[in-house]
Amino acid sequence: MGIREDLEAIGAQLKEELASLEMTKALEEVKVKVLGKKGTLSGLLRSLGQLSAEERPAAGQLINKAKEDFTAWIEEKQAILEAKEKEERLRKEALDVTEPRDLPCEGAEHPINAVLNQVLDCFTSMGFEVAEGPQIELDHYNFELLNLPKNHPARDAQDTFYVDDNIVLRTHTSPVQARTMLSKKPPIRIVCPGRVFRADEVDATHSPVFHQIEGLVIDKDVTMGDLRGTLDAFAKRLYGDDIETRFRPSFFPFTEPSAEVDLTCFNCHGKGCKVCKGTGWIEVLGCGMVNPKVLEMCGLDPSVYSGFAFGIGLERITMLRYGIKDMRLLYEGDLRFLRQFR
Ligand code: DAH
Repeated sequence: MGIREDLEAIGAQLKEELASLEMTKALEEVKVKVLGKKGTLSGLLRSLGQLSAEERPAAGQLINKAKEDFTAWIEEKQAILEAKEKEERLRKEALDVTEPRDLPCEGAEHPINAVLNQVLDCFTSMGFEVAEGPQIELDHYNFELLNLPKNHPARDAQDTFYVDDNIVLRTHTSPVQARTMLSKKPPIRIVCPGRVFRADEVDATHSPVFHQIEGLVIDKDVTMGDLRGTLDAFAKRLYGDDIETRFRPSFFPFTEPSAEVDLTCFNCHGKGCKVCKGTGWIEVLGCGMVNPKVLEMCGLDPSVYSGFAFGIGLERITMLRYGIKDMRLLYEGDLRFLRQFR
């Protein structure tokens, strides 16, 4: 067989192998087999020695030409394979930025907010409006207009944070009563939720910052019966139809008469248990008929108008509502606690 036929055979086989190749890695093997040092073309070159001096140049040229052709075929195939592999890699590595991933964990309404919203729903459905006042308050509104003049002994009970002689961090939401009476004409029906401050201990039932919801109704002929009915409706709405209210006489300078209100223990429904210390009742708020002195100081004629007011401790009713035993849990932001309200 002559060189030409050998080259044709090698070329034909190379073509066949190239056609069936799928990967650049395998291409390298094919390349080495033909063009490598121990490849078929090198073998042919070595065999040139056996040819006569006349035959040799032509045969050498044939082999060189074949080498060029083969190299070109291989490079062509390599380019095709590389392009294909690149495309595949890009397809595999492609990032779909619109694909939905694990969503961040869902938040929950804080129990204080949940109960606040229930209370506000309850009162707004009875025709109350929501009012607000400043947390940094004038002594005048926090005390004076509520019948707590300077040196009044009841001031001591409030552990006030004083900013200066005339400015305090409000110790209760009651100053919003005074502000409302001074700025609005009766009939008045408001609830005012908000933060209040007292120089108190921190323990399971006390915090220097806590929340109250103040209520105020002023109109002609408002009676204590209206107060009772309103608070009854509130208790049933928040804790259930079997919950009743009990009024106990009490004292607040801004109401006369005043009462503290107990609700049927939500835990034992009145039978007596640990939560209510065996009494069947739990104290939740203070209230009373707005003191005529307060009406007068706030520009309302007590012979024309009367009204009632109440102050609810939001932390307390939240703890009762959910059976939370330590108030500090409400402020610490511990996710294990908060997730339970999802
Ligand atoms: N302001 C009172 C307190 O902080 C709560 C209170 C009692 C508010 C009786 C009232 C009320 O409006 O009538 O302890």
